[in-house]
Amino acid sequence: MRSRARTAVAAAGMTLALLASGCGADDGDGGAGSNKVEVFTWWADGGEKAGLDGLVAQFKTDCSQYEFVNGAVAGGAGSNAKQVLASRLQQNDPPDTFQAHAGAELSDYIKAGQIEDLSAQYKEWGLDSAFPKGLVDSLTVDGKIYSVPANIHRANVLWGNKTVLAKAGITAPATTLPEFFAQLDTLKAKGVATPLALGKDWTQQMLFEAVLISKLGPDKFSGLWTGQTDWAGAEITDAINDYKKLLSYSNKDRDTLDWTGAEELVMAGKAAYQLMGDWEAADLDAKGFKDYNYSAFPGNGDAYQWLADSFVLPKNAKNPDGTKCWLKTLGSAAGQKAFNTKKGSIPARTDADAAAYPAYQQAAIADWAKGTPVPSCPHGSACSQGWQDAVASAQGKFSSDGDVAALQSALVAAAKQYAGK
Ligand code: BGC
Repeated sequence: MRSRARTAVAAAGMTLALLASGCGADDGDGGAGSNKVEVFTWWADGGEKAGLDGLVAQFKTDCSQYEFVNGAVAGGAGSNAKQVLASRLQQNDPPDTFQAHAGAELSDYIKAGQIEDLSAQYKEWGLDSAFPKGLVDSLTVDGKIYSVPANIHRANVLWGNKTVLAKAGITAPATTLPEFFAQLDTLKAKGVATPLALGKDWTQQMLFEAVLISKLGPDKFSGLWTGQTDWAGAEITDAINDYKKLLSYSNKDRDTLDWTGAEELVMAGKAAYQLMGDWEAADLDAKGFKDYNYSAFPGNGDAYQWLADSFVLPKNAKNPDGTKCWLKTLGSAAGQKAFNTKKGSIPARTDADAAAYPAYQQAAIADWAKGTPVPSCPHGSACSQGWQDAVASAQGKFSSDGDVAALQSALVAAAKQYAGK
């Protein structure tokens, strides 16, 4: 994946090579008698909806013979959408396309035989060379490519309320965990009772992973998902203890909040910080909140915890030609720009002109280029859906009982059950 980051470096600043937009007349009239294309995501509000709207505008231009149908089901990280999708797939009622994270999560759908091979479309649309090889590998099983990536998001970003931080005399981001704890103590002493905003299960999983990256470094962290790093080790116990300490600086109602609920605490100045993926950049912008800063989570160094939203052609989709037009649009340079400038993510394509992006994404494009890629479990690049669910439920339990040994055993058991599957 390092080479992937490097490819992106080489690409930064290069001029966009725009793909010919527009799907040809031979794209058909909507398959089984309909021109509707149902696009299933969890992008229902704020910056997520703004990103989707940007892409839809491009789809309307490129694929004017088709009608976009919004199948979004609200809930951060697909917490509700994935359940609805699973039951629709089981009932053989797939949407025309759906959002699936690149990596192990996508492999679940491939193994279940639920999505079609898109290798021919990659050739036809020139996508083989448009995306970094490492990313295409995460969309490929047995030599077949099953999905078109829309973006690359970064998960391990710490967002701060500038005014709250300045009032506490904090002017620079913490670069180590001990420094971060010292800042949180300072904030508490200055009257910010819960300086770290936190939400429910999957957001807790993200915070814990950020601590693990700090404690283990990128290579050992990545090894947790391949069986090379032992979940039973003393470093993991250490990380859980640090994570437990972090929880003590967070809001008590965390298990009831989605990521946007925690984000509101930062916007309202009730908290100083939130660890969240860079969809937060787009969301804060969409909500008109400008008083924020961002940095990599303390101690993460140049580790770029990546994830990618990608879209698929489900088996038995009603309008496969319409789906292909959607996929062609989102894989195109114009589609990636229309989407990513609004979504907080960076384009998966390597030919983007960084200057066309907002300040946050410009910084992210540069960081991705020189960073060390590490995957994310709650966002599917590191682990399967079953593994995600097992960890999220263990984290939820830990949020109320704080039992370090029990969390570690649950993590060990989950790895034993799911690693390599
Ligand atoms: C998705 C992002 C989305 C975030 C919060 C992640 O799993 O990849 O596109 O913005 O969840 O809902």
